[in-house]
Amino acid sequence: MPHPHTWSALRARLQHPLIQAPMAGVQDSVLAVAVSQAGALGSLPAALLNAASLDRELHILQRELGPRGLPYNVNFFCHQPPEQDPEREAAWHRALAPYREPWGLGAEPVAPAPQRQPFQAALADVLATHRPPVVSFHFGLPSAALLDRVKGFGSLVMSSATTVDEALWLQAHGADVVIAQGLEAGGHRGHFLRADHDLEGQAPLNRLLPALKAAVSLPIVAAGGLGHAPAVAAALQTGAAAVQVGTAFLLCDEAKTPAVHRQALVRAAASGAAELGPGATALTRLFSGRPARSLFNRLMRELGPMSPLAPAFPLAGGALAVLRARAEAQGLDDFSSRGPRTAGLCRRPQWWGR
Ligand SMILES: Cc1cc2nc3c(=O)[nH]c(=O)nc-3n(C[C@H](O)[C@H](O)[C@H](O)COP(=O)(O)O)c2cc1C
Repeated sequence: MPHPHTWSALRARLQHPLIQAPMAGVQDSVLAVAVSQAGALGSLPAALLNAASLDRELHILQRELGPRGLPYNVNFFCHQPPEQDPEREAAWHRALAPYREPWGLGAEPVAPAPQRQPFQAALADVLATHRPPVVSFHFGLPSAALLDRVKGFGSLVMSSATTVDEALWLQAHGADVVIAQGLEAGGHRGHFLRADHDLEGQAPLNRLLPALKAAVSLPIVAAGGLGHAPAVAAALQTGAAAVQVGTAFLLCDEAKTPAVHRQALVRAAASGAAELGPGATALTRLFSGRPARSLFNRLMRELGPMSPLAPAFPLAGGALAVLRARAEAQGLDDFSSRGPRTAGLCRRPQWWGR
C-alpha cells in the first residue's frame, strides 16, 4: 500500500479523525496497534527508545498493521541536549536530599534515568528500513538534512505548535500538518521558539485553534483537554482536520500507565477534579526540566512546580528516578509526574472497536 504523502490521503485511510497522542513512558506499540486497528491513528513514542528498541517496535507495528495497510505514527523529540552543569545538578541533589533520606537513599549514588534522546541520524537509519506512514515531532523539527531524509521515506510530517509564531515557523520549515497544542494538554509543552520556561503567549485550545486556522494554510490537528465527544465535535467544528488525544487513553488496558498513576487519575476523577483547575493540575518542570502538565503531588506542592532548582531538560529526571521507583513500589505518587486531566477517562474511548 503506498504511503499517504498528503493529509487527505492519510485521512482517507482513517475511519475516525482521531490521533492517539504519542506518550513516552506510558505506552508502546501495544496501544498504537490497538488504536490503528480500531480505525484511528495509533502513535509510537520514540523519545525513550534507542535504535535497537525502535527497530523492534517498528517491526511489531509493521507486522500487525502493514498487511491491512493501516497507518501509524512514530514520534520523536527535537530538543538540544543540554550542557552538563555539575553545580546545578549538585544543588538539585541537595534539594532532594530530605526526600531521599527517609528511603535510606541519602548516600547512594544516583542511578541515571532513561534520558529522552532527540531525533538523530542513527534513528533515521532505522526509519529508512520501515518507512513509517507518519512521523511526528515535539519541540520543533529536526535539522533540514534529517527532515529531508524523513520526507524522502514518504512519511507525512507533523509537529506541535503552542503559538501562531510556531505554527508559521513549522509551515515555513517543511511540516505537512500542525498540531495545535492547547495550554490544557497533558505532557510536555511543545514550545520551541522561546526559552524553556517561558510560557507567555500560550493559550488554551479554544483560542489557539482559531488563531492557527486564520494564520496557516496547513491542516491543523487540535490537542489538549479533549476527553469526550462534545469537546472533539467542537474542535472539528472550529476547523480542526482531526484531534490528538492523550490523557483519555491513560487508563486503557493497552497502555503501560503505572498503577499509582492510574490510581491518582481515578482518585482525581472521583473527587470531582475532572475540570481543569489550579487545584488539580499545574505545569511543572520538576520531573524533566521542561514544563509539563501534571496532577499536583507532594513534590510540586513543597518545592513549587516551576522551581528553578530542577536542572535543564531532560536531566532533572535522573536524580528523581530511584526515589520515584521506591515510592511507587509503596503505592505513593509523591515524586511521579502524573498527567493530568480526568474528564473522559475510560478503559475504551467511545468509538473504540466500532
Ligand atoms: C503522559 C503523557 C506523555 C506525553 N508524551 C508525549 C510524547 O512523548 N511526545 C509528544 O509529542 N507528545 C506527548 N504528550 C503530549 C501529547 O502529544 C498531547 O499534546 C496531549 O496529550 C494532548 O492533551 P490531552 O492529554 O489533554 O489529551 C504526552 C502527553 C501525556 C499526557
